[in-house]
Amino acid sequence: MNKILEVSHISKEFGQQLILNDINFSILPGQIYGLLGPNGAGKTTLMKIIISLLEADRGNVSIGQFDLEIQREAALKEVGSLIETPAFYEHLTAKQVLELQAAYLGCQVNVKTILDKVGLKNSDKAVKAYSLGMKQRLGIGRALVGNPQLLILDEPINGLDPQGVREMRQLLQDLAKNENVSILISSHILSEIAQVADKIGIIKEGQLIKEVEMAELNAEHIDLESYFLDQVSFTR
Ligand SMILES: Nc1ncnc2c1ncn2[C@@H]1O[C@H](COP(=O)(O)OP(=O)(O)OP(=O)(O)O)[C@@H](O)[C@H]1O
Ligand SMILES: [Mg+2]
Repeated sequence: MNKILEVSHISKEFGQQLILNDINFSILPGQIYGLLGPNGAGKTTLMKIIISLLEADRGNVSIGQFDLEIQREAALKEVGSLIETPAFYEHLTAKQVLELQAAYLGCQVNVKTILDKVGLKNSDKAVKAYSLGMKQRLGIGRALVGNPQLLILDEPINGLDPQGVREMRQLLQDLAKNENVSILISSHILSEIAQVADKIGIIKEGQLIKEVEMAELNAEHIDLESYFLDQVSFTR
C-alpha cells in the first residue's frame, strides 16, 4: 500500500543539543499512529517539521507522492494540523475562522458540516469568548478544512470534557475508517491512544525507541500504559 506519510532520517538540533536523532517511520492510508513520549522527548518538534513549521537539519519528509522540500505547497495541501494550543484571531467567530482557513487554502468549506463534526455549539460568538475545550474543537475543525488526507494532531484532547473526548475518539475513528484519512496523534492520555491508535511509536530523548501494533498488544493483553512505562524506563 502507498504510504501517506514517510519520515526518513530526520534529525534536528537546537543549538548544540540533538533534539531529534535519525527518526524513521511511515503511516498508511486510514491508519491512526499514536506518537508517545515523555515531556521534552521531541514529539511537537517532529510534528512541526512534518508540517514545515520547522526545518530539519537532516532527512526527508514525503506526504502522499510529494517531497516536502521539493513540492512543499502540494505536500501541505494534503495535511491538516493542530499543534499544541491553537492560535486564532480572537475577534472572529468560528464560522469566520473556518472561512479564513478555506480562503487561505483556496478551497470551499461547508462550515456547518465541520462544526457538527467537532461538536462546536454557540459558534456564533467571537473566539475570545470560547472556553479551552471550545477552542480545541475549533482547532480540530480548522484542521479538517480542505478534507486533508493526513491529520497531524498534537495533544488534541487536552482540555476536552469527557463527552468531548468520546466525540473526538468517534470522529477520528470515523475519519480513518470511512474517509481513509491517516492520523498522527500525540497524547499523554494513554487510555485514549490505546482506543484509537492502530500503531504506536515511542519517542524518547529524540529517538524512536519502539514501534508496535496495538493489535499485537491487545492480543497479548498488555496494556499500553504498562508497555509505555516499561519501554521508557528500560532504555533509561
Ligand atoms: N525553539 C526551541 N529552541 C530550543 N529548544 C527547543 C525549542 N523547541 C523545543 N526545544 C527543546 O526540544 C526538546 C523537545 O521539545 P518538544 O516540545 O518537541 O517535546 P515534546 O515531546 O512535544 O514534549 P511535551 O510532551 O512536553 O509536549 C525539549 O528539550 C525542548 O526544550
Ligand atoms: Mg509537545
